[in-house]
Amino acid sequence: MQRIPACCVPETHIEIDGLEVSYAGVPAVRVGSMPIYRGCVTAIVGPSGCGKSSFLASINRMTESVPGCRVSGSVRIDGVESGGDRRRLRSLRRRVGMIFQRPNPLPVSIAANIEAPLKDHGVGQKAERRRRAEQALRTVGLWEEVADRLHKPALSLSGGQQQRLCLARCLALEPEVVLLDEPCSSLDPMATDVVEQALARLRGRYTTVIVTHNLAQARRIADFTGVFWQLGRGREDSLVEFGSTRRVFETPAEELTSMYIGGAQG
Ligand SMILES: Nc1ncnc2c1ncn2[C@@H]1O[C@H](COP(=O)(O)OP(=O)(O)OP(=O)(O)O)[C@@H](O)[C@H]1O
Ligand SMILES: [Mg+2]
Repeated sequence: MQRIPACCVPETHIEIDGLEVSYAGVPAVRVGSMPIYRGCVTAIVGPSGCGKSSFLASINRMTESVPGCRVSGSVRIDGVESGGDRRRLRSLRRRVGMIFQRPNPLPVSIAANIEAPLKDHGVGQKAERRRRAEQALRTVGLWEEVADRLHKPALSLSGGQQQRLCLARCLALEPEVVLLDEPCSSLDPMATDVVEQALARLRGRYTTVIVTHNLAQARRIADFTGVFWQLGRGREDSLVEFGSTRRVFETPAEELTSMYIGGAQG
């Protein structure tokens, strides 16, 4: 299996400490401690319903807008507690972008999808916004494909192109962290491959956390992997184990990890 060489330094960027996310008082995910390293790609894997999306959403406090959802514990980004009032949340969402399972471009042109949020955040003049849009489209490998149709509707793009456009929209805001929740699950293998290539270009420049059900994908693109499991039946911590992707997949320390990797791959 070909692995993209790691070029990130394991220096903590985000520190999770005693985090618990609950819905209507029922704990969905609990993580005692987990580091997320700067410039690295971290994969979160585990069975359906074990709390991967809830964990991801708690990093940029998307959980705040979910009715009945309560988050306790600590998520520190560069040592500073995330969250706070509306102004701090807005700034947090800009620093920590998120990409969802289904591409969600706005029903406007390709260019407007990227430039409108920049305008909304008060970024530069038109020329600067255009420059940033081109740069972001180049980073995700989409520029060559759309340069001559920037004013065509974004919804005319293929699923893989739409997902890369959403990634470009996020990158144009120059975030520090990119969170991706199963970004390839609605894509075919070829589109998945192109999105993975785009993600590979983020390594070293952005701290990336990706939830994926595709273990081969985690092995291909992630420097570090956290294996999650449902709480209950004696499990007090959702995080089964965390380590370098190679170590977790090749010499898992926990039986649940071996079982999950073996079962999901076998
Ligand atoms: N908005 C919500 N309201 C109530 N319960 C929720 C909500 N979102 C998630 N949950 C519950 O929290 C638990 C964790 O869900 P979550 O979506 O985080 O898991 P997941 O690991 O991402 O699952 P999947 O792999 O299927 O996407 C589940 O029991 C789920 O039913
Ligand atoms: Mg999920």
